[in-house]
Amino acid sequence: MTQRRILVTSALPYANYQLHIGNMLEHIQTNFWVRFQKLRGHKCVSLCADDTHGTAIMISAQQQGIREEELIARMQKAHIDDIAGFDAEYDNFGSTNSPENRALCQEIWAAIRKAGLVVEKEVTQLFDPKAGTFLADRQVKGTCPKCGARDQYGDNCDKCGATYSPADLVDPKSAFTGATPEVRGAVHLFIQIERLHRFLAEWTQSGEHLQPEVANYLAGHFLHEPLRDWDVSRPAPYFGFEIPDSPGNYWYVWFDAPIGYMASTRQWCDAHGEAFDDWWRSEATEIHHFIGKDITYFHTLFWPAMLHSAGFSLPTKVHIHGFLTVGGEKMSKSKGTFIRAATYLEHLDPAYLRYYYASKLGPRVDDLDLNLDEFITKINSDLVGKVVNLASRTAKFVEKTGLAAEYPDDGGLFAQAADEGQTIAEAYEQCDTNRAMRQIMAIADRANQYVEHAQPWVLAKDPAKARQLQDICTVGLNLFRQIAVYLAPVLPRMARQTGELLGRPISHWDEAQTPLLGTPVGRFQHMMTRVDKKQVDAMIEASKQPDESAAVVPAGQPEQGSSSIDSDQPLADVPLAPMCSFDDFQKVDLRVARIVAAEDVPEANKLVHLTLSLGGDKRLNVFAGIKSAYKPEDLVGRLVVCVANLAPRKMKFGTSEGMIVAAVGEGGKSLSLVAPDQGARPGHRVQ
Ligand code: 2FM
Ligand code: ZN
Repeated sequence: MTQRRILVTSALPYANYQLHIGNMLEHIQTNFWVRFQKLRGHKCVSLCADDTHGTAIMISAQQQGIREEELIARMQKAHIDDIAGFDAEYDNFGSTNSPENRALCQEIWAAIRKAGLVVEKEVTQLFDPKAGTFLADRQVKGTCPKCGARDQYGDNCDKCGATYSPADLVDPKSAFTGATPEVRGAVHLFIQIERLHRFLAEWTQSGEHLQPEVANYLAGHFLHEPLRDWDVSRPAPYFGFEIPDSPGNYWYVWFDAPIGYMASTRQWCDAHGEAFDDWWRSEATEIHHFIGKDITYFHTLFWPAMLHSAGFSLPTKVHIHGFLTVGGEKMSKSKGTFIRAATYLEHLDPAYLRYYYASKLGPRVDDLDLNLDEFITKINSDLVGKVVNLASRTAKFVEKTGLAAEYPDDGGLFAQAADEGQTIAEAYEQCDTNRAMRQIMAIADRANQYVEHAQPWVLAKDPAKARQLQDICTVGLNLFRQIAVYLAPVLPRMARQTGELLGRPISHWDEAQTPLLGTPVGRFQHMMTRVDKKQVDAMIEASKQPDESAAVVPAGQPEQGSSSIDSDQPLADVPLAPMCSFDDFQKVDLRVARIVAAEDVPEANKLVHLTLSLGGDKRLNVFAGIKSAYKPEDLVGRLVVCVANLAPRKMKFGTSEGMIVAAVGEGGKSLSLVAPDQGARPGHRVQ
């Protein structure tokens, strides 16, 4: 078999949410395919990254009083950990906020400009005066202008299906701040994608790159009429990359997000001495994207148009999956079915979900339902009852003797399962893991019938039957190993344990073709336990808990459930001050402020020079003694509490016009800035 070069991606998760088991469906499906290709001996590289730009991330960072870079760094770590927890790691997991991505965006943009595809147009958009930013359609909510349903997004009504523009909503409100948005005009840059209509019609309808239902959907919904110009810029303020030839404008997040696939590839290439063009400008390389159905349009029209314009390879295939439902319904926080990846991992073995998804996923775009009763039954009857049981009932009898030197007559079972390797491989190749799992379980059924019929546990009682016992177990363990090879893309841990048990790692698909003979057998180690309904219930219960921290846990926020028994030392160290009257307290005007600039004062041991914004153009110049605990570059953007009416004080380095509030303990060794909770804005009074 000739070795293929295959580049595989999953859609890039947004950096403003934690992954849930619906997101994991895609990472796990991609991982099945990647592991399968690697096991077949192909050169396959899997890539992902966090999708980091846009208004939502900008506002989320603002609300938490941290810089966007800090928010996305924390979330990237959480995403990488969750994905690794499900054994679905990528060869590189990058970020769209990377120098590699910026350079590639510039290159692709220059090519699109050169092709004459860019036009400028005035756009009116809703602007959130509180957050100081333009709002996307889905960042505005209000009453449907058609049917009067409340709490509808700015693009369409999920009650009556009407589509409209956000300005048409009755009583619109910003989803971020609740402010009433204003209509403002700005110039945006558009790509005239219609100029590539013919190319896109051919590419999407060739029958090679898309599932048939996807090709039909595109033909019926988009390609039957002229394609609308694509708005690819957003005016400042926007967290993203500024467009070099259009200062003050930024690429819209959906322009730079798919380029993140390439940026992640470039990072991987640089780390492995590979040439980038061998992966993105070579006919010898296949490119496979795995995505959910909601982002079909971006990956099957815009993205091929961008690649085509800039002379890069087009996707070989875009594999599109449906959504996850739980118990036949949309995942719900109140019902506890909105299960975060991390919560799942606290309660259940990742192998269970991998196998369940594998047994349900097919090549079509259908939604997948996680039925928890079926989940329990499937794992217990298929994996524990059929697969692991094969090894646990045979390995212990050949621990001392090892496998027989010659393969015994098994009535053709091994040969039959070896032959099936080809069709199982075809099913994996087509992402039809449902078919692959059924075929593998049929092999397991036959193997179990063989073992049950041969009854090694009875033979073991009779020393005269030792040879026969070894033969039976040699067959049982070789059939088990075949199954472990076929399941290896889905159950990598079990494949590794099988390799350890039989002293030969599973490293190639073809290892299912030849039995292992005359080799030692190790001590059987526990491979998988039955799922207990109690564990599933506990996971659902845990998911029901209110989850305000789903985005990011702000720095310094105590962990939920942390001890409530606090030491009395701080009060002993600094006893309470004499009582003051309410009026005394009211004299101190405490306000929320944003640190807009922070500089070291090199001549001072303790001081950092801060510029605080109280909103509008009100600024305060403050010298704060926090150098021991904070670096100036980590402070910019944070919300703090300041004494805003303190009489100015002349200091050696300048005049200080206020004070910021910090918790101080241990004789000044512990210093923590006081930060307001979500919802506070510069200028809000603290009282
Ligand atoms: O829909 C999403 O979650 C996007 N963050 C996916 C981006 S995929 C790619 F284009 F980057
Ligand atoms: Zn409506």
